[in-house]
Amino acid sequence: MSELTALQDRALAELNACSDEAALRAWNTKYFGKQGEVVLAVKKVGSVPPAERRAYGQHANQVKETLTKAHEERDALLKEQALERSLTTEGLDVTLPGRPVPRGRLHVATKVLREIYAIFSDLGFQIYRSREVEDDLTNFELLNMPPHHPARDLWDTFHTTTPGVLLRTHTSPGQIHVMRELAPRPIRVILPGMCYRYEQITVRSEIQFHQVEGLAIGDHVTMADLKGTIITFARRLFGAERQVRIRSSYFPFTEPSIEVDMDCILCAGKGCALCKGSGWLEIMGAGMVHPVVLRNGGYDPAKCSGFAFGMGPQRIAQLKYAIDDIRLYWGNDLRFLSQF
Ligand code: PHE
Repeated sequence: MSELTALQDRALAELNACSDEAALRAWNTKYFGKQGEVVLAVKKVGSVPPAERRAYGQHANQVKETLTKAHEERDALLKEQALERSLTTEGLDVTLPGRPVPRGRLHVATKVLREIYAIFSDLGFQIYRSREVEDDLTNFELLNMPPHHPARDLWDTFHTTTPGVLLRTHTSPGQIHVMRELAPRPIRVILPGMCYRYEQITVRSEIQFHQVEGLAIGDHVTMADLKGTIITFARRLFGAERQVRIRSSYFPFTEPSIEVDMDCILCAGKGCALCKGSGWLEIMGAGMVHPVVLRNGGYDPAKCSGFAFGMGPQRIAQLKYAIDDIRLYWGNDLRFLSQF
């Protein structure tokens, strides 16, 4: 019994001398480990003469309880002291910059589209959306390209396994949809959307890309209206000093057809690498809506006329932001996307 008392006193004294967690752990092993002194002392009850056994057992358990409790208290005290120490000596540097939260943003293609929408909205154009999966009839035939017409070779088409169903190669079939919906009323719309062409992917061409089609139909819509619209658009997007040049061209669904260039935004027409020395940048195809197309849309070409244009906003944004590779748009590289 006196050994137990001595054990308790010694253990308590040593416990109070423990000043850190490591010392506390060593103490715990010494007294409460597998071969710990308290554990062995409790086990010893079996070898005590039966007459003293009960009293010994009670005392041993008391010692065990006292020491367990004392250990818990010491442990709590040491933890508290450690926290206190770290708060006072290490401090908290509130001037340290925080970790930035990554923020999402609009894709550059979306931004440019929205800029284009804003300009045409100001000019009184509405936005009309039409389908990306088209039929041969609307993508080609109703646009004045009968089957086997060589003009179809202007576009490399993705055909589906359903005959006559394809991915639209341009937004021009949207002209048919909007005309058939609104005829014989006047029209002033833009038709933005994704187009698809089975082309070799290069720095200038992708198999998927946006186009923004424009269509205006009325009693007396002329080439002058088309020209004014395009010049206003180019100056709003690229600056008031922009010059626009018109060249004759060919599209089956417009007559006459034109190709529109803008003076180079880098060299203002002097000639540089961007404009390949020509001083001009191509921005869109356009023309007066062909009488056949007007008729297919439900309009009488003897009574009304219209203009149409089609542009590739990715190419336009390439000019605006000096993006030298069209493949960057859909490459999903954050180093590119986070620049806009
Ligand atoms: N659809 C033509 C193309 O994709 C562009 C265009 C549209 C030309 C409207 C004239 C009028 O190349």
